[in-house]
Amino acid sequence: MPYYSDELIEEVRSANDIVDVISGYVHLKKKGNDYFGLCPFHNEKSPSFSVSQRKQMYYCFGCGAGGNAVTFLMQYESYSFQEAMEVLAEKAGITLPKQEMSGKARQEADKRARLLKINKAAAKYYYAQLRMEPGKIGLDYFMGRGLSQETMKKFGLGYSSKFSDDLYQYLRQQGYEDDILKDSGLVSIDERRGGYDKFWNRVMFPIMDANSRVIGFGGRVMGEGTPKYLNSPETAVFDKSRNLYGLNLARSSRRNYILLCEGYMDVIALHQAGFDNAVASLGTSFTSGHANLLKRYTKEVYCTFDSDTAGIKAALRAIPILKEAGITTKIVNMKPYKDPDEFIKARGAEEFERCMKEAQNSFLFEVEVLERDYDLKDPQGKTAFSNAVAEKILKFEEPLERENYIEAVANKYQMGYDNLRSLVLHQGTRAGLVRESKTLKSGVQDKKKKEDGMKQSQKLLLTWLIEEPELFEIVKPYIGPEDFTEELYRQAARLVFAQYQEGKLNPAGIVSMFTEEKQQREIAELFHTSLRELTSPAEKEKALRETIIRLKENSINFRSKHLEPTDMAGLQKLVADKKSVQKLYHMDFGISDGK
Ligand code: UTP
Ligand code: MN
Repeated sequence: MPYYSDELIEEVRSANDIVDVISGYVHLKKKGNDYFGLCPFHNEKSPSFSVSQRKQMYYCFGCGAGGNAVTFLMQYESYSFQEAMEVLAEKAGITLPKQEMSGKARQEADKRARLLKINKAAAKYYYAQLRMEPGKIGLDYFMGRGLSQETMKKFGLGYSSKFSDDLYQYLRQQGYEDDILKDSGLVSIDERRGGYDKFWNRVMFPIMDANSRVIGFGGRVMGEGTPKYLNSPETAVFDKSRNLYGLNLARSSRRNYILLCEGYMDVIALHQAGFDNAVASLGTSFTSGHANLLKRYTKEVYCTFDSDTAGIKAALRAIPILKEAGITTKIVNMKPYKDPDEFIKARGAEEFERCMKEAQNSFLFEVEVLERDYDLKDPQGKTAFSNAVAEKILKFEEPLERENYIEAVANKYQMGYDNLRSLVLHQGTRAGLVRESKTLKSGVQDKKKKEDGMKQSQKLLLTWLIEEPELFEIVKPYIGPEDFTEELYRQAARLVFAQYQEGKLNPAGIVSMFTEEKQQREIAELFHTSLRELTSPAEKEKALRETIIRLKENSINFRSKHLEPTDMAGLQKLVADKKSVQKLYHMDFGISDGK
């Protein structure tokens, strides 16, 4: 970040109107003072993504994504700060000074850019091959699997010919040196034999990142060779644990869940059948990197892994990883078919849709798998199973959730609700879990609630001041930046108060002063707290007074806790502040008459 001066960053940012920038990506409609649209960072059906021309910021009330024009491009296009600046500067006709990037950083960025170019060139080459004479075998193969021309085009499918140095020769002609080619994962350079291709005589699946840039390939053998699928190795641009096949398309699906499957062909068959929300991991098992990637787009995942033992195992692995990321999972049962590709070929899209409606809750799926280890006809087996299930149910922390699962499992396995419930309780107390976690939790929760309430008032006041700057004059005698007890809020408040003093409020500029995405989101949230609709001036007066008092009392509390015994000035200020709060209760801010 620190390559440009703050002034230059501000110049470039403010030269681009945020509504123009975002309109290029999101369909926006004006509503009141602000613009609204469907959030590009999570799946939703009704617009909670807001863009404010006055604040020059965006904020999603659904998922909390937020920031200014620069952060929007960084989030949406996965641009680096540099790249976002370059794009915005160009739009505004501003020339940026040559980069003083560290030599190493520059080299690495250059290398990644070149590797992307090579991958793109290779994808074009394979794509063309599929449509020429030598590629006929590949084209026949895809057609034999029921793919339309349109689908092949959409996925950029291709073919690598039988010659083992075809691509290598082509890329050399394009001017790429061995040095960079050997890092592309597409060719190997042998000292004696020269360069040769990694992929030959395979149909080719270009793998794209979420922004549709080719980062690697999967290649399927023609006929029965091994390995059936060969994949690009990881390179500087290809990180298998952070990319999913099909995500570049699935991210803009209108469906609000993601279909997670195992293979390239499954993804393609699903998309062709209208399930444009299908993705697959890339010949590796599902990781938390994948889960976190998915979390940006959805809250719910439907697993359509193969129906075999390996597929069940993969699902059992993925469920807790998804849960950890805050995603709920359902398991689709495609039996007697092996995978979505086979299912759709045999039964069609409508049937598959029905299958998904019947998808199983992931916990009940886990219990069903567990059941296979027990003989429920044998009383002892059934007892052991009940115990195992009770232990599993105990892992739910929410009492209500626990109750619901006790009910569901009891129903399904005819165990008797009361029996299962007391088994859970019994095991819980024995493990010291149920009671302990209850008291502990509620204690923690109360404290958390209070903290959240405090944060809320601080956010509220800042948003309010930005939306109605005339309130500064009313608030200033009582509240200063130091009264914001959250570190980040205090920093933001200092900047806001200073900007007001200079007569140029500029919330979007404040976002640029923070470098981490997490901070930028928090700042955006800080300036976009929902203000209750306050209709009468009296109501507004009351709300403002309450907010000021809460903030001030919290600040007094906070300071008296952290006061050094020797800090006489601090003590005097505290005493004075305490007195002024008392007055606040009866203060008339004069909103009733004027505004
Ligand atoms: P499958 O063998 O289930 O794929 O492997 P599939 O899609 O049903 O294969 P087809 O229908 O015969 O063409 C699932 C996924 O596992 C990875 C690939 O990503 C594949 O899509 N895989 C499989 C490999 O990486 N290497 C292999 O040798 C096999
Ligand atoms: Mn298959």
